[in-house]
Amino acid sequence: MKAGYLAKGAAVAAAFGFLVLSGCSEREEVAEAPKAQEIERRAESAAASGDYDATVAQQTFEKHCASCHPDGGNIINSEKNLKKASLEAKGIATAQDIVKIMRDPGPGMPAFNEKTIPEDLALDVGRYILETFK
Ligand code: HEC
Repeated sequence: MKAGYLAKGAAVAAAFGFLVLSGCSEREEVAEAPKAQEIERRAESAAASGDYDATVAQQTFEKHCASCHPDGGNIINSEKNLKKASLEAKGIATAQDIVKIMRDPGPGMPAFNEKTIPEDLALDVGRYILETFK
């Protein structure tokens, strides 16, 4: 998998280098990886490095949470929305606090275990929520 990406990256770099070297300025079509593939690549490298990747966190939120929490709201119980002030009023102030709820939620919310959302990624989703919904 990794080697595949590396090989692909090298091929893209080589093709780009060729375009630059050949001075073909009118066709500046730099090969762009398809979106899903790019996200997957970033998820892999973020997981490997332990770094926060806002795009991956957002994608994870959209996949698992946004159906009930669109724009940080809550379609089932609007008082339990994800806006910062609302969370803080309930003592939910850190990414870790949000992960706790993901693992052991209140009524109406499904639990997300380590298998569905690994710890690092869960923390990133928590951080994404705190930084996004004001
Ligand atoms: C099926 C709908 C549903 C999904 C999907 C869902 N939630 Fe919830 N969420 C709820 C409901 C309902 C509550 C209120 C639970 C309660 O009464 O304590 C809630 C509460 C919360 C709270 C506490 C909010 C507060 O103000 O007290 C957080 C944080 C939260 N959800 C995060 C998430 C995250 C992160 C995800 C995705 C990984 C997620 N939820 C997915 C329905 C959902």
